[in-house]
Amino acid sequence: MSVVQEIEKRRTFGIISHPDAGKTTLTEKLLLFGGAIQVAGAVKSNKIKKAATSDFMEIEKQRGISVATSVMTFEYRDKLINILDTPGHKDFAEDTYRTLTAVDSVIMVVDSVKGVEAQTRRLMEVCAMRKTPVIVFINKLDREGRDPFDLLDEIEKELKIRVRPLTFPINRGSLFKGVYNIHKKYLNLFRPSTQKIADEVLQITDLNDPALDKQVGERDAAQLREDAEMVEAVYDTFDINEYLKGNLAPVFFGSAVNNFGVQELLDTFVEIAPVPRGRETDKRFVEPNENKMTGFIFKIHANLDPKHRDRIAFLRIVSGKFERHKYFHHVRLQKDFRFSTPVTFMAQSKNIVDEAFPGDVVGLYDTGNFKIGDVLTEGEDFNIRGIPSFSPEIFKELINTDPMKSKQLEKGISQLTDEGVAQLFTQQPGNRKFVGTVGELQFEVIQYRLQHEYSANCRFQPISMTRACWLRSDNKQKLDEFIRFKQTSIVQDKDGHTVYLAPSDWFLKMERENNPEIEFHFNSEFKTEVTE
Ligand code: G4P
Repeated sequence: MSVVQEIEKRRTFGIISHPDAGKTTLTEKLLLFGGAIQVAGAVKSNKIKKAATSDFMEIEKQRGISVATSVMTFEYRDKLINILDTPGHKDFAEDTYRTLTAVDSVIMVVDSVKGVEAQTRRLMEVCAMRKTPVIVFINKLDREGRDPFDLLDEIEKELKIRVRPLTFPINRGSLFKGVYNIHKKYLNLFRPSTQKIADEVLQITDLNDPALDKQVGERDAAQLREDAEMVEAVYDTFDINEYLKGNLAPVFFGSAVNNFGVQELLDTFVEIAPVPRGRETDKRFVEPNENKMTGFIFKIHANLDPKHRDRIAFLRIVSGKFERHKYFHHVRLQKDFRFSTPVTFMAQSKNIVDEAFPGDVVGLYDTGNFKIGDVLTEGEDFNIRGIPSFSPEIFKELINTDPMKSKQLEKGISQLTDEGVAQLFTQQPGNRKFVGTVGELQFEVIQYRLQHEYSANCRFQPISMTRACWLRSDNKQKLDEFIRFKQTSIVQDKDGHTVYLAPSDWFLKMERENNPEIEFHFNSEFKTEVTE
C-alpha cells in the first residue's frame, strides 16, 4: 500500500469527558465493535478510582496501566482507527491537553443526567483553540436524564459550538425506547444488554409510517414526529465542512454500557472523521503526504520500576514513513537517533513495529533524550507549533532539604518536568524554583519520585500565586520596565520564556489595565489572550 493509501485509511482521535461520564465504557464498546477485544471488561479501566486518591503510588500504578492502553488500534470497515487514551483523573488534565495535540478529532462524552461539567468545558476550550472537529455522544439515556433539547442548548451555550443532532431519543430512563437516526432515517430499538453488539433496527424512511406507532406506541410516535420536526426547524442541516472546521458538532444519543447508539456513532465517525492532518511548524506547514518523516513527542511515560530508569516517549507521526533502525534527526539536540525497538500498544500487549505512517503513534524507549514537544525529522530543522503549556493552577516552591544532593535534585526536577508531570519555573537571580501543577497529587508524586529515583529530598512550600501568564509586548522598554518592577513575581519557564505569576485574578486584571501595551497569555504559544 502506498503512503497516501495508508494515510487515507487512518483515523486518529481521542475520547474526552468529565470523569464518570462513560469514556472508558465507550472506548471498550468501540473496541468490541472493532473486534479488537472479544468480551466486555477486557480493557482494564485506566480510570483512577476515587477511593484511591490518597494513595499516590496506587495512582501511579494505575497510571502505569494507561501506558498499555495509551493507543488502541483496531480496524473497522477498512479504516484503521487509533484511539489515543486520555487520563480521566482531573489532576492529570495537563496530560489530556497534550494528548489532544496528537489527535485529529475527538468524541466528547456528556452524561445525560449531569450535562456539561467543568472538565468538559476546559477540554472543549483546548479543542476550540486548535479547531479540532468534535462529535458529541450524550450517554446514559437509560437513566432519568435531562430533556434532550435542554442538553443541546447547554452544549451550544457552554461549549460555544453549534450542534446538530443526528439521532434523537424516544423517551429516557425506564421509558427509554430507542433512538431515531435522523440522518439515515431508521429506528433503532433499545434492549438493555451489556454484551451484544447488534441492535434491533427498523427501517422507517417516513416518520408518518404507521409501523412507527405499532413499534413504540401512538403517544411516543407522535412525540418523536414532533421532536424530529423541531430538530429540522431549529438546527441547520449537517454540513461536514463545518464539522471539519470545528464549528459544528454532530450529536448522538445512547447508552454506552448497554451498547446502545454506539454503532451509529462509529459508523458516522468512520464516514466523516478527518484523515490524519498535517501540522504547523515555525518554518512551514508539514503535509502528511510528504516523503520525509516528521513526528513529534506529545507524551512521556516513566517506567515505574526503579531498576529500569528508561521511559517511553510517544511519537505522533505527522508525515512520511517511520522505519525501525533508520536514523532520524532530533531537532532540539541536533543529533541523529535510531530506534531498534519502537512499539505500538494494544490493550495489554506491546508489539515491535517495523514501520508506521501519519496518524500512528509509536512508543520509543528513551533514556532521557526526549522532552515534550521534541521533533524528529529526516534532517530539516523546525519546531511544531500547537503543543503549548497551559497555566497551572497550583504553585509551590521547591525547597531542597538536603544541600549535599542539590545536583540530584536539579537533575531530577528537570527530568520529571520534561516528562510533563508538572511545570517548572525558575526565578533569577536566586535560582528559586517554583513547580506548577493542575492537582495536589503531582506534588506527592514528584516528592516520592525525586526521593526514590534520584535520591533527592525536598519539600514543597505553598506560595500565594494562582496563575501563570506568558508575557509579550511590541514595546520592549515597557516590558523590561514591568519585569523590573514586578521582579518578585517574574520567572522563566523551561524554554526561557518570561512568565508573570499572578497572586489572584483581581491582581491580574489590575495589571492588564495598568499595562495595556503588554499581552498576558494563559498558554505558552500566545494563541489566546487572557479574557475576563
Ligand atoms: P469515565 O471513564 O468517563 O470515568 O467513565 P466510565 O466509563 O468508567 O463510567 C462511569 C460509570 O458510569 C461506570 O459505573 C459505568 O458503568 C457507568 N456507565 C457508563 N455508561 C453508562 C450508561 O450508558 N448508562 C448507565 N446507567 N451507566 C453507565 P461505575 O459504577 O462507576 O463502574 P462499574 O462498576 O460499572 O465499572
